[in-house]
Amino acid sequence: MRITGKTEVYGIFGFPVKHSLSPLMQTAAFRALGIDAVYVPFEVSPENLDKAVEGLKAMNIKGVNVTVPLKERIIPYLDSIDKTAEFMGAANTVKNIDGKLYGYNTDGDGFVDSLIEEGIEVRDRKVLIIGAGGSAKAIAYALLKSGVNRIVIANRTIEKAESLADKLKGIGDVNTVSLLNINSVIDKFDILINTTSVGMEEDDPFLFDYNHIKSYMVVVDIIYKPFETKLLKVAKSKGAKTINGLGMLIHQGARAFKIWTGKEAPVEVMRKVLLEGLK
Ligand code: ATR
Repeated sequence: MRITGKTEVYGIFGFPVKHSLSPLMQTAAFRALGIDAVYVPFEVSPENLDKAVEGLKAMNIKGVNVTVPLKERIIPYLDSIDKTAEFMGAANTVKNIDGKLYGYNTDGDGFVDSLIEEGIEVRDRKVLIIGAGGSAKAIAYALLKSGVNRIVIANRTIEKAESLADKLKGIGDVNTVSLLNINSVIDKFDILINTTSVGMEEDDPFLFDYNHIKSYMVVVDIIYKPFETKLLKVAKSKGAKTINGLGMLIHQGARAFKIWTGKEAPVEVMRKVLLEGLK
């Protein structure tokens, strides 16, 4: 591609940021649609976030994604945030319009998009979410808005699950269970979602006894590296439908792209470069 004086700059703020696949995916998307823009990684430590935000405005960077550990920290710098970012207390997408910064959080809706893309109807399904961190919060909120009937949050630290459930209770029917007790209740759920990092490493423990997974279930792991975690491998062997985290990565990015450009993101182009990038 040709970078000229007119080329617009987008990027991602993160610390670390070297592992991020967003530059690959967003650059491919700009190119596919013939948009004169680049998307680059910015390694921004939490101490330097204030200077980075000033720099973004000073240099007229048009938009950024924000990742760990800055999603919450970026909020005070934003002039306006959407309802989801407000509920989350965290933003993953910032749009700069004439020096005013607008914040969004596309993680949860991106997750739901990735289920829809796989033909999963979430309305009125019973969902078990494992984990009670930021990813679980985003996913639970988006699922409730999409018509999910009932969510149970399972977590190692039950207090964290309860605190998250309390925040969600005004929106839908949300309960909790200790991770230690989920084996006996698992067959009550249609959709199981792992939002923890357990499964990223080869020697990670099992979250529960995966032999309890049934063929009628949809089992989702937001991990995409490895491409198929132990959880998904066993689920597949039980005849369950399995979905990894690549779709969530793509669709949170696709929503950011739409916020910045007003255009539908070329999702298949993004998937293709990510699949190559993950090889
Ligand atoms: P994220 O923003 O990606 O959700 P996070 O906020 O750090 O990350 O949340 C991590 C989640 O993974 C938590 O629910 C955590 O459980 P605890 O609340 O008990 O810490 C869960 N988690 C991490 N390592 C785990 C492990 N080895 N076993 C079970 N749960 C684990």
